[in-house]
Amino acid sequence: TSERTFRIAAIPADGVGTEVVAAGRAVLDALAGASHGELAFDWTEFPWGCGHYERTGVMMDEDGLETLKDFDAIYFGAVGWPTVPDHISLWGLRLKICQSFDQWANVRPVHFLPGVVSPLRKADDTELDWVVVRENSEGEYAGLGGRNLSARGPGNEVAVQSALFTEVGSERIIRFAFDLARGRTRRKVSSVTKSNAQQYGMVLWDEVFARVARDYPDVETESVLVDAMSAKFVLRPEDLSVVVASNLHADILSDLGSALAGSLGLATSANLNPERRFPSMFEPVHGSAPDIAGRGLANPIGAIGSAALMLEHFGLADHAARLRKAIETTAGAGVLTPDVGGSATTADVTSAIIDNLAL
Ligand code: NAI
Ligand code: MG
Repeated sequence: TSERTFRIAAIPADGVGTEVVAAGRAVLDALAGASHGELAFDWTEFPWGCGHYERTGVMMDEDGLETLKDFDAIYFGAVGWPTVPDHISLWGLRLKICQSFDQWANVRPVHFLPGVVSPLRKADDTELDWVVVRENSEGEYAGLGGRNLSARGPGNEVAVQSALFTEVGSERIIRFAFDLARGRTRRKVSSVTKSNAQQYGMVLWDEVFARVARDYPDVETESVLVDAMSAKFVLRPEDLSVVVASNLHADILSDLGSALAGSLGLATSANLNPERRFPSMFEPVHGSAPDIAGRGLANPIGAIGSAALMLEHFGLADHAARLRKAIETTAGAGVLTPDVGGSATTADVTSAIIDNLAL
């Protein structure tokens, strides 16, 4: 077989982002090394993030998007550090990449790992295997609004933060969720809104959901309010398969979901540009975790599992499956970081996963 080389832009950014991206790179390089020349990864690492901001005044280079455009994918750590306001660091790097590259579908799978104790009662006899599909280009993170201090004077500042819902934007993510559900054992899509209280955007979403559902008669559907859905995540996780929601709601629900699976450190995520006009971006769900950064405590499974999503995006489903199996074997053997009850370091888990690739 001829070798396929994938050019990947690594952006570790801040805090544990640097630790978990290094772990993911090591695992992918081991996978390539064992592929008998079938595949190779050509990495370029970018020093962007809060440190870069402190040095230069910008989160990423001015021509950064132009540079990233030609890579096959972006492998991202986490952005944010206490020295820089979060809205500056997030908008200056991660949201800039997601929105400029029209990575409109954010896919966040959640499932139990062997050896990891879930806070769910009776978790062992409960199925938990779902995918949160997050609208990733508009909604509450459209950046629309403004602040007005002058009109009312000091102490009376007013801010407006609007959400943007378009029929095209809602329809493409809802269709994406239905297509994803068709490939799963449980063919079900749950749509989440808060249309009782937010009568414009969320009602439009509900109407689009009902219309698109008619094109997928083989897929079960339900429409659930976000507060009820957060209770359902805890009480009836076995009743969920694909959960599609707006940018903000899916952001919150997927953190809840990964906590139920055992830790935020396990959760994986793909920011996809399904048309493949731009590179897609793969990253753990968690942030830079300043409370544990730099001490070898970060769970690398979220970042390594996100690398498996990247392999799938490259059409390497067999390699992705092999990597997932190595993660499961490692967790099942009890090689776990402290967030999931173990005493292993980031490096211990990473090298165990690399060893288990060979099994
Ligand atoms: P966080 O996800 O960084 O941390 C929340 C909790 O989860 C902390 O107790 C942390 O120790 C733990 N945790 C996170 N990742 C872990 C891992 N790999 N292994 C073990 N434990 C882990 O969220 P937080 O504290 O709200 O935000 C910290 C910074 O990260 C902020 O600047 C925030 O803006 C940024 N952030 C960036 C994101 C991104 O780049 N995608 C996403 C979320 C937050
Ligand atoms: Mg989040």
